[in-house]
Amino acid sequence: MLTVSSVEALRDQVAQWKQQDNIIGFVPTMGNLHAGHLALIDRAKQAADKVVASIFVNPTQFGPNEDFDSYPRTMDADSEALVQHETDLLFTPSVETMYGTGGQTMMVHVPDELNDMLCGVSRPGHFNGVATVVSKLFNQVQPDIAVFGQKDFQQLAVIRQLVKDLAFPIEIIGHETMREADGLAMSSRNNYLAEQERQLAPHLQKALLELTEQIKTGRQKTETAIKNTLKQLEENGFDVEYVEIRRQSDLKTPELGDNSLVALVAAKLGRTRLIDNCLFELE
Ligand code: PAJ
Repeated sequence: MLTVSSVEALRDQVAQWKQQDNIIGFVPTMGNLHAGHLALIDRAKQAADKVVASIFVNPTQFGPNEDFDSYPRTMDADSEALVQHETDLLFTPSVETMYGTGGQTMMVHVPDELNDMLCGVSRPGHFNGVATVVSKLFNQVQPDIAVFGQKDFQQLAVIRQLVKDLAFPIEIIGHETMREADGLAMSSRNNYLAEQERQLAPHLQKALLELTEQIKTGRQKTETAIKNTLKQLEENGFDVEYVEIRRQSDLKTPELGDNSLVALVAAKLGRTRLIDNCLFELE
């Protein structure tokens, strides 16, 4: 695996591969890699000839009181895992390479209708930061395909609209959420959980599965089922930010006849904010 931190070196290698008619797959990450990230690498490997991964903890997507400084940085272990999964190139730009030294940067603005809901409410500016850094990375890497996780379902929706609206010639692949044996969605932030919190954390997925089951069977009205889920999570020690049912396609509120739905949740255990979601179909 080649590791480069300059855009020039990245472009040289990718250009050479493209000249040899290789399809380029790309998996952007912030590092501290777990099996969820590595599943995206494997998926990219299936769909492409050469796989580029990036590790960059992106400052513009963190709010002032969020964990940019303490976000886990584990480059050596990450690099080893990427080698094991046959990644061809690792791009590790510095903040200066991505944003220059001082001055403001051009930003991509996510439309309000996608931004002012779900995680966007408590994390204003977050998705603009994600859309901006992913646009930069897409222009630097110039991949044919890119793989993102469904774990961050709103982020995936933002990326799909970004590619459509700004005409990036890139195919976006969404990959299912990888979970621990007890159902907890893998996340770098799971490391922040105290032992007792870690034991409570799988309730998040359990609550979502119960919620979607109740809606599917029509046993309860959606609003009642959501209220019960919220109560159940609070009783298990979660500080719930939202529990919502949305359309998979555009995250809008479902209307009669919409059958492909997603249940989404964000909740804190102590100081750790967790998100999860569950896709489901109405008969
Ligand atoms: P990061 O949180 O490192 O995640 C990188 C990719 O891994 C994202 O596409 C995310 O959805 C996916 N991922 C995380 N946990 C997963 C899991 N349990 N199962 C499957 N996929 C999972 O998301 C980001 O970084 C950043 O916002 C980024 C897109 C890199 C822009 O900075």
